[in-house]
Amino acid sequence: VALTSHAQANPVSTPARLTIGFSQVGTESDWRTAFSDTIFTEAARRNIELLFLDAENSQENQIAAIHYFIEAGVDAILLAPVIETGWNSILQEAQHANIPVVIIDRNVTADESLYLTRVSSDFRHEGRLAAAWLAQATAGRCNIVELEGTVGSSAARDRHIGFLEVMQLFPDMRITVSQPGDFRRELGQQIMEGILNTEDPSKICAVWSHNDDMAIGAVQAIKNANLDPGDDILIVSVDAIPDIFLAMMNGDTNATVELNTNMAGLAFDAIERYFNGEDVPKWIRVTGGLYFPATAAEEYARRTQ
Ligand code: AHR
Repeated sequence: VALTSHAQANPVSTPARLTIGFSQVGTESDWRTAFSDTIFTEAARRNIELLFLDAENSQENQIAAIHYFIEAGVDAILLAPVIETGWNSILQEAQHANIPVVIIDRNVTADESLYLTRVSSDFRHEGRLAAAWLAQATAGRCNIVELEGTVGSSAARDRHIGFLEVMQLFPDMRITVSQPGDFRRELGQQIMEGILNTEDPSKICAVWSHNDDMAIGAVQAIKNANLDPGDDILIVSVDAIPDIFLAMMNGDTNATVELNTNMAGLAFDAIERYFNGEDVPKWIRVTGGLYFPATAAEEYARRTQ
C-alpha cells in the first residue's frame, strides 16, 4: 500500500502547520474518490501536510496505517473506517501517543472517549428517506431487491436499519432479496443479473441500493434483461454522484439521497479547535438532500463544473 503525501499540491511555500495522517477506505465507488479529492483540496488550502494511505477495503491495512502514523509522530489522524467493530485497541494506542483521532464518514462502535469527534452523515436517516420516497411512489405496495454495501460497515448496517424502520410501517412493502455488493458498480450488475435469472422480474417492483454505483450496475443488468430500469423496476439509491444524475436524465433511476462529500473542512476545523483548547462536539453531522429526475440535469451541471 503506497503512502502519498499531498503537501506538494499546496502552492504556498511556508512550512506545513499540521501533519495529519488519513486512512481512507479505498476506491470502491465514485463517491469515495470524490471524497478523497475534497480532503486533498482542503488540506492543501490550509497548508496541512496530509499523509494518505488507501486501505484497499481492509481493516488490517487501516490498523497498520495508524501504527505508521503514530510512529511518524503525526499531529492528528483521520480514520474513515471500513467496518464498524475492532477499533478499541488501536484507538487506545493513538490516545496513549496523545494523537487525536477524527472518525470520518463511517462510524465505529468504540468508546467515544477514544476519539476526538466523528464527522459523518446519519446513515439511518438516509435509509428512512429512501424508504419514505419508495412508499409514496408505490402507494406502499412493493417487493424490493436490496443491494447492500460492505458487510460490517456502518453505512450498510444503518442504511438497512433506517430503511426497515419506515418500510415496516407499510405491510405490503417487503424486501424479497438482499445481497451485499460491497458498494461496487460491477458487483451491483453481477448481483442483479443473478437475481433476474432466479426471480420472476415481473414481481420485482424496486431496487433499493445502498449506493449509486451499485444502482448503476443494476441498471445495466436490468437493461441486459430487456427491461426498462426506472419504469419496470424503480431504483432508489444513496450518494448523489454525477453518474446517477446522468442515469436519471436517461430515465433509468428515480431518486437518490445525497451523501455530502464536504466533511474535510469540518474535520480539520475540529482538529484546529482541539489544538486551540476549544470544545469539540462528539458528532458533527453532515446533511444531504433527496434528488429526483426533475432536477437531474441541473444537478449534473452543478456538480461537474
Ligand atoms: O461510507 C459511505 C459509502 O461508502 C458510500 O455511500 C459509498 O459509495 C462508499 O463506498
